[in-house]
Amino acid sequence: MGNTVVVGAMWGDESKGKLIDYLAHDKDVVVRWGGGSNAGHTVVVDDQEYKLHLIPAGILHPETLCVVADGVVIDPASFVGEIEHLRGRGISCNNLIVSGNAHVVLPYHRLLDELFEKRKGKKAIGTTGRGIGPAYEDKAARIGIRMRDFVDPVLFPERLAEALEWKNELLVKVFGEEPLSAKAILDQLLPHAETLRPFVDDTALRVAYAAKSGKKVLFEGAQATLLDIDLGTYPYVTSSHPSAGGSCIGTGLGPTQIDQIIAVSKSYTTRVGAGAFPTEQINEIGDTIRERGFEYGTTTGRPRRCGWLDGVALRYSSLVNGLTDLYLGHMDVLSGFEEVKIAVAYEMDGNRIVDFPSDQSRLSRCVPEYITLPGWKEDVSEIKEYSQLPANAQRFIEIVEQHIEVPITTVSVGRRRDQTIFRPR
Ligand code: IMO
Ligand code: MG
Repeated sequence: MGNTVVVGAMWGDESKGKLIDYLAHDKDVVVRWGGGSNAGHTVVVDDQEYKLHLIPAGILHPETLCVVADGVVIDPASFVGEIEHLRGRGISCNNLIVSGNAHVVLPYHRLLDELFEKRKGKKAIGTTGRGIGPAYEDKAARIGIRMRDFVDPVLFPERLAEALEWKNELLVKVFGEEPLSAKAILDQLLPHAETLRPFVDDTALRVAYAAKSGKKVLFEGAQATLLDIDLGTYPYVTSSHPSAGGSCIGTGLGPTQIDQIIAVSKSYTTRVGAGAFPTEQINEIGDTIRERGFEYGTTTGRPRRCGWLDGVALRYSSLVNGLTDLYLGHMDVLSGFEEVKIAVAYEMDGNRIVDFPSDQSRLSRCVPEYITLPGWKEDVSEIKEYSQLPANAQRFIEIVEQHIEVPITTVSVGRRRDQTIFRPR
């Protein structure tokens, strides 16, 4: 396969990092196209765990060009921290480039993220508090600061002074906060700008020329389809385009150049933050999934909300992403349940519906209709062949596949690279 896109199928935290690390073996370029340090990707290689937020998981492959493209919003301190951490563990980061067009997350974005959430009270989104929404807001309003300006020692102080005039008015007059000082921000960020300057490049051109010369590109999704600002469960979404179409925005490749779109799903569903979640289990089942699956946020440490696999949402995700493959993960976590469930329809306002209503007001009125299947007792975490999986686990996988009408070509049974089962079509 040539150029491959990996997306999260549902509300994030599907362990996309593991698949990306695996696929990166065979690719020349890995591109992260959106989000910021709200993402948390954990990759385990030879018992070593790497937690990445901004840097593509492809960084663990020194021959692979790793690209942070235009649509990513970059918190300089987090980014530099990640580079230093990786260097400390023997990973050079010499294969990393960052788009000059990517926007920078500044201290006022984080502060405003917090203040907006507080102001929303009960209607808070439950953001990761990383300043993501306010940074994308400035990008759309055309008042953001981009990486190329950030690493320019003359332009950045000018651009920051202009921005602060505006932001301080908001902080002081609307929120009754103290104004931020340009000097304090410059003292904090200029050293990071120095560190990041050599990484800044015209990444879209680099990627486009690489693809033109036959190089293979892997697009690393962050967040997930149901968090997409258009296709997701608005307003409980993030502020970018994590669905597959987003991979063509600001990266240097067009839609005709994508050969394969793989979504990653767990064999159950999780969500962090607020918003409707029809299959959520606020009971022993949800607690068991959380403990077995270690469902706590990589970025914020928050316990994740857990529930049965939502086949209605997964079918929607398959349709709107134009999936070619589904990767079904965390099958080991479902071992031991007497029975397991898959939602295949909802009841909404007295009607049975099979299509996912992505807006909060309709979704919050949906009650799932499940298929209930017998579970399996066996530990599946060391199984290498699909045919060796317990018959009930195979049945579960095949029913999901029939329901979404997309082949499940990979099944994951644990966090390590070798805990992956490939399944011929
Ligand atoms: P990865 O890449 C899970 C969620 C937040 C919140 C909403 C908006 O690890 O799958 P934001 O800070 O983006 O403005 O928060 O989106 N969210 C994620 N949930 N995994 C993520 O990334 C997420 N990134 C954002 O919890 O509900
Ligand atoms: Mg996450």
